[in-house]
Amino acid sequence: MTARIVGTGSSVPVHKVTNEDLSRVVETNDEWISSRTGIKERRIAGEESTVSMSVSAAKKALEDAGTDPQDLDLIIVATCSPDYFFPNTACCVQEAVGAVNAVAFDLSAACSGFLFGLNTIQAYMKAGIYKKALLIGAETMSKLIDWEDRGTCVLFGDGAGAAVIQAEETGMIDMVQYSDGQQGPVLTCKARETSNFLFPNEQKADHIYMEGQPVFKFAVKKVPECIKALLDKTGTSKEEIKYYVLHQANSRIIDSVAKRMKEPEEKFPMNLHFYGNTSAASIPILLDEMNRKGMLEKGDKIILSGFGAGLTWGASLLEW
Ligand code: UT7
Repeated sequence: MTARIVGTGSSVPVHKVTNEDLSRVVETNDEWISSRTGIKERRIAGEESTVSMSVSAAKKALEDAGTDPQDLDLIIVATCSPDYFFPNTACCVQEAVGAVNAVAFDLSAACSGFLFGLNTIQAYMKAGIYKKALLIGAETMSKLIDWEDRGTCVLFGDGAGAAVIQAEETGMIDMVQYSDGQQGPVLTCKARETSNFLFPNEQKADHIYMEGQPVFKFAVKKVPECIKALLDKTGTSKEEIKYYVLHQANSRIIDSVAKRMKEPEEKFPMNLHFYGNTSAASIPILLDEMNRKGMLEKGDKIILSGFGAGLTWGASLLEW
């Protein structure tokens, strides 16, 4: 058996922040942000949280799939911006949707999180361990951002995307995934420092730190490489792929991947103009948009590819 996506949903905060709005917060402008990233606006959480957006996206995905939450046997939430250290976000979703029969845990792989979650579910389903899963990518990046750092604060946004996945005869064909901890320091966000009665430490909230250019170079090199590895591994030709659904970090990265792969830009859908980089949520939000617009038909072959902190990256080939 293999993992098939049978329903999708997404949820973003109501509050929209344009590039113009940000130019009143830090020294930046729409021209710089648009030309370097493609981003025009992003959603920023106020009332919303990682759990509330996860629950809202999950309910929509369950409705789209026509799935009774009690039939779920697994919930995975990919996030690097949870509301709690514990309980994990997935347990909060389990409680909210009434998935009493599911085991629930979070997975941390930053912007590759949804993809790694999908691959984890695939492994469980292939082994016959679980049959019906809910996978969510959810982030409140706005709480990790240094709002005085113009190099990063213009890039990210908040949101959640979800997919209901069930074990079927056809669905995921294969996947590749990689990590390189040696390059970890180029993109970090520290959690709490060690601090206790023996070794007290002044706690300072840390923020996202990114060396943009190494991350950019990593993405434009590794994404085409891993997609090619996946095509070779499965004996699939580029012509068979209808869409490449890439992590929505930067339109220049996506354009460059298309160019390196000698594939038309139309095969690389984008919505980062409206949401910025929502980390683990970007792939499922885009997938939900494509699903609801009717862009995907049964039997279509698509490739999902994520890349980000860790460093982590990979790709999955699916039949819709
Ligand atoms: O999901 C995780 C993956 N993350 C990514 O994919 C991010 C990958 N990296 C990138 O997308 C790009 O590196 C950025 C969009 C982050 C930056 O673009 P860049 O072309 O690499 O710019 P840069 O960092 O080299 O900065 C160029 C200039 C600098 O000024 P000087 O030193 O040349 O005078 C920056 O200070 O642009 C300046 N700058 C800004 N100017 C206006 C940096 N941020 C801004 C800003 N507004 N927001």
